[in-house]
Amino acid sequence: MKRRGNPWLFAGIVVVLSCFYRAEASTDANIITVPGEVINKTAATLSCNLTDLSSKVGGHFWTKNGKVIDATKSDKGDHYIEHEIKTVDYHSAGIYSCVFLTEPQVNATIEVKAKPHVGAYKHSEHGNENDNVTLACVAHGYPLPTDWFWYKLNEDNSKTSISNNTGEKYGIQNTPNKTTLSVNNLDMEKDPGFYVCHSVSDQGEAEDKIQLRVRSRLAALWPFLGIVAEVIILVTIIFIYEKRRKPDEIIDDDDSGSAPLKSNSATNHKDKNVRQRNSN
Ligand SMILES: *[C@@H]1O[C@H](CO)[C@@H](O)[C@H](O)[C@H]1NC(C)=O
Ligand SMILES: *[C@@H]1O[C@H](CO)[C@@H](O)[C@H](O)[C@H]1NC(C)=O
Ligand SMILES: *[C@@H]1O[C@H](CO)[C@@H](O)[C@H](O)[C@H]1NC(C)=O
Repeated sequence: MKRRGNPWLFAGIVVVLSCFYRAEASTDANIITVPGEVINKTAATLSCNLTDLSSKVGGHFWTKNGKVIDATKSDKGDHYIEHEIKTVDYHSAGIYSCVFLTEPQVNATIEVKAKPHVGAYKHSEHGNENDNVTLACVAHGYPLPTDWFWYKLNEDNSKTSISNNTGEKYGIQNTPNKTTLSVNNLDMEKDPGFYVCHSVSDQGEAEDKIQLRVRSRLAALWPFLGIVAEVIILVTIIFIYEKRRKPDEIIDDDDSGSAPLKSNSATNHKDKNVRQRNSN
């Protein structure tokens, strides 16, 4: 038993050591980052200084949110590297790391923070009376919002805050990058208007608005009713026409005697010509 226990103990030590080894490899105490983090800036230059000059550097690059930034890849042996961010905004914000290809590879992290961007999934939504509709907003950036709020804009531009599950009328679902508001049992009078999704993060606030239109159930039927009405009118016209046509046809048959009338007028003309010639 004792003999078998030893390999397990050995394996355990290897696992523990490799954990230390990995922890050391991921963030290096020998890297000085300037600045420590980026907040409230419009532009920034990130720098990493690998102060341990004895370690041989086989190359370096930067990553953003874990993805390698291809343009920063280099096979030079620099111990000091920079990465410039021309515009700090929700688009460029994120978790940046400098990576030195040493043995083992070392890196350090700089967080670049900006106000998040919030956009409505659709700026205009519509639903039918008594139906439910879901409005959604999405956030981009780093850090993502820590809180979401929904308001309805009143006609005087004041806001009425909407809370979750108010009498089952509203339902709110939040994640850091998305919020949804469902408006249930739509009312033609009360529910149309502008809804605002508002986000708060430790770097600022952002919002967007969505217009909701509510159609009456009847309105949804109008095109269908129009077609039905057209068909009824057409059928009625055809029916009346057919009914009237039958007596007309009998009259038409009597009119067959109109041909002789025409020939009469022709003979009248002849008579006129004859008379004219005679007068000459
Ligand atoms: C990097 O750090 C070392 C040690 O602190 C320092 O002497 C050197 O000037 C730094 N390099 C740059 C480019 O800041
Ligand atoms: C709103 O209420 C529903 C149901 O009670 C719940 O699942 C959801 O997490 C709540 N949302 C918020 C933002 O509290
Ligand atoms: C929101 O975040 C989750 C998890 O990080 C991700 O899977 C999803 O794609 C994100 N959604 C949007 C709209 O960015």
